[in-house]
Amino acid sequence: MIVKQLPVGTMANFVYVVVEEKSKDALVVDSGWETGPIEEAVRESGAFVRYCVATHEHFDHVSTLSELATRLGAKVVAHEDSPIECDLRVRDGVELFLGGKAVRVLHTPGHTEDSICLFDGHEVFTGDTLFVGTIGRFERERAEAMYNSLHNVVLRLPPATVIYPGHDYGDVPSRTLAEERAVNPYLMVKDVRSFLSLFA
Ligand SMILES: [Fe+2]
Repeated sequence: MIVKQLPVGTMANFVYVVVEEKSKDALVVDSGWETGPIEEAVRESGAFVRYCVATHEHFDHVSTLSELATRLGAKVVAHEDSPIECDLRVRDGVELFLGGKAVRVLHTPGHTEDSICLFDGHEVFTGDTLFVGTIGRFERERAEAMYNSLHNVVLRLPPATVIYPGHDYGDVPSRTLAEERAVNPYLMVKDVRSFLSLFA
């Protein structure tokens, strides 16, 4: 896939345009703030956007998503438990196809109940679940869910998978899971108790 990483808005958000090379079928990951730069990136790449996917319900990720989807003739996609309005509700394991290539939905609750990551075999779009160098905020009662999403879902992907987060909070805009695992303290712990001790 061709990945365009677009910084948008005032909260260091990253939006992604993900294009399958042969068919030019594409999806957009999140859309808050402004749609202009996203539409321009789509035009430049000559892509046909099929899906505008919400990684989770927070306004900085979805406030312009349905407007963007209407403009691009795409479907709004979100997790089945999401409060946002959408055309297609997905659960863990569902695949969205771009050309012949599958993009798999991974349900990763913790930051929010409706948080999802998208995995295309090489890249993972992590929304506010995992950033470069840190992780998304979560409420205490969701700690176990967050730990599980990070350790038993995201970290089970191949080590060479490239992480594309929902915000530009790191030293670099993206890096591999293997690199992240070696330096991110929240990924280095071995159980929920040690995970929680990092917040004490
Ligand atoms: Fe968020």
